[in-house]
Amino acid sequence: MAFDNLLLERDGAVATITINRPKVLNALNAPTLDDLRRAILELKADDGIRVVIITGAGDKSFVAGADINELAVQTPTSGREHGLTGQHVFDLIENLGKPVIAAINGYALGGGCELAMACTLRIAADTARLGQPEVALGIMPGYAGTQRLPRLVGKGKAMEMTLTGAPIPADDAQRIGLVNRVVPAGELMAEAKRLAGQLASNAPVAMRYIISAINKGVEMPFAEACQYEATLFGLVASTVDMREGTKAFLEKRKPRFTGR
Ligand code: COA
Repeated sequence: MAFDNLLLERDGAVATITINRPKVLNALNAPTLDDLRRAILELKADDGIRVVIITGAGDKSFVAGADINELAVQTPTSGREHGLTGQHVFDLIENLGKPVIAAINGYALGGGCELAMACTLRIAADTARLGQPEVALGIMPGYAGTQRLPRLVGKGKAMEMTLTGAPIPADDAQRIGLVNRVVPAGELMAEAKRLAGQLASNAPVAMRYIISAINKGVEMPFAEACQYEATLFGLVASTVDMREGTKAFLEKRKPRFTGR
């Protein structure tokens, strides 16, 4: 499938999506959001792909937010539709069923921070800055930032970041749990690919269920979430990969997972 605003590369079991509008610091306009939606659906259907990396073109920005040219002319109804569309695309990413790694190579602001939060794991370059600066534009986060941010960093920090609008450096983002790892900028993609390779060798069905158990479980009452976990734990016992993983351990060899 062809995309005007992003690059999609496959390397074995790992796909890399690069948001590609460097002249506007990879701001997300409506066609870019739609490219992202189509790319994610294509990768969901591709059994050969086990892990996805999302990054931004150039060395300055991951994604500097929604495109402010579009925001400037939105109406109440188009604004609502815009928010719902962004939320839908980011839900697809969060629930892709394969790990998605955000390789944050610079500014992750507004919709960029929200995109990173929808990913399964986040690695930031030490030069990256993350924030929700919408308030300075007289608006508010609209791609579920007010919901994912407190779930990741707690209510107090989420209030501070969204109400001041001030971006924070990568090290601070790691300290509060907004990113998993910080690496020197020059090593970002190598580290993202190393992690992706590690995840790609794990059992795909087990990873899919773990992502679902955590994503859905944190929204459920504890006892119900434990029931859900037990159901998935039982289901994973039906896989060829469970037999392979346990057998390989007992035979003291590395498992070869096939996703069945
Ligand atoms: N939407 C549309 N265009 C954007 C953009 C966005 N979110 N972010 C940056 N751009 C454009 C700038 O308008 C500029 O275009 P120009 O070259 O035609 O003037 C270009 O990208 C480069 O940005 P610039 O502001 O010159 O770079 P900088 O290094 O001085 O500042 C930022 C970088 C990220 C601090 C600054 O661009 C910024 O604050 N962007 C908006 C961030 C934001 O509020 N995001 C949330 C939106 S809801």
